[in-house]
Amino acid sequence: KKRVLSGIQPSGLMTIGNYIGAIRQFVDMQHEYDSYFMVVDMHAITVPQDPEKLREQTESLAAVYLACGIDPEKATLFLQSQVPAHAMLGWMMTTLTYMGELERMTQFKDKSAGKESIGTGLFVYPSLMAADILLYDSDLVPVGDDQTQHLELTRDLANRFNGRFGDTFVVPEGHYTEVGARIMSLLDGTKKMSKSDPNPGAFISLLDEPDVIRKKFSRATTDSGREIVFDRANKPEVSNLLEIYSVFSGKTIKELEKQYEGQGYGAFKKELAEAVVEVLEPIQTRYRDIRASGELQTMLKRGAEKASAVADATLRRAMERMGFVLP
Ligand code: TYM
Repeated sequence: KKRVLSGIQPSGLMTIGNYIGAIRQFVDMQHEYDSYFMVVDMHAITVPQDPEKLREQTESLAAVYLACGIDPEKATLFLQSQVPAHAMLGWMMTTLTYMGELERMTQFKDKSAGKESIGTGLFVYPSLMAADILLYDSDLVPVGDDQTQHLELTRDLANRFNGRFGDTFVVPEGHYTEVGARIMSLLDGTKKMSKSDPNPGAFISLLDEPDVIRKKFSRATTDSGREIVFDRANKPEVSNLLEIYSVFSGKTIKELEKQYEGQGYGAFKKELAEAVVEVLEPIQTRYRDIRASGELQTMLKRGAEKASAVADATLRRAMERMGFVLP
């Protein structure tokens, strides 16, 4: 069986962007692949976090994974910080990474822009992400579009290590959805939908109340035209809404264009909101049940044990190759 691994940062509310670009793929792939999914809490601390909030968001994200349909009997769900091998291989990867490679990363440029003091962790973040992936001999890494550069670096580092120390790591490949690999802000069709957007009207959180979802879609930016057609260059906002609608309704974009031919934006946005509510409401109910059940801790502990067994073996192999004296 091929192996799949991915992770999400517990750095705020999960958006439908994360759901469409990432989680939805995870849920599909767990049936076919040997799957490892994690909450990357060690990545979250590359920007300042309040400890209580970080703990809450970490548990919340683990519950969101389950609520969206990750089945702990099929996939291994764990917290990155509970598998110490990530930190060790992360360091080993950092020593193989060139400054120039990290300076080129657009996520680093975005997150550090205009900041007075920039933590070193934010800079070396991609080396840790490479370690995350390589520890599990991952074949496929399901992610959204914004992670392609990080994945390229991961492949470069795997090849570099293999070239220098002998064949050790599987060189992974990114796996992207056809529709929705980059969901845009509801208020600006040229900006990525992001959970850290200061204006909550720009994103739909997976845990937004149905009425909030309806309001956000009704206020979503559109253009001054009235045609509902997919045209990313000239109608970025409408195209983005069509992608979201397609994912949540199971209809193709072509089918939706046909369905709304000759209709204005009003009905389109209203029915889109209902399609999203229909999918998110049951997820929210399951989420509340999981949080109330108190079973999360035990489940995550089991996940970390399973993940550690794989990660520790790979780490040992890599340490041996690099020249460490093993106990
Ligand atoms: P993060 O936490 O920013 O996002 C989690 C996943 O959601 C995808 N995503 C989107 N997809 C479509 N449209 C959007 N607007 C959108 N916003 C986010 C992201 O592409 C990602 O797949 N560096 C990673 C976390 C990470 C990781 C890893 C991923 C750490 N280690 C190992 C895979 C494998 C990140 O910051 O994702």
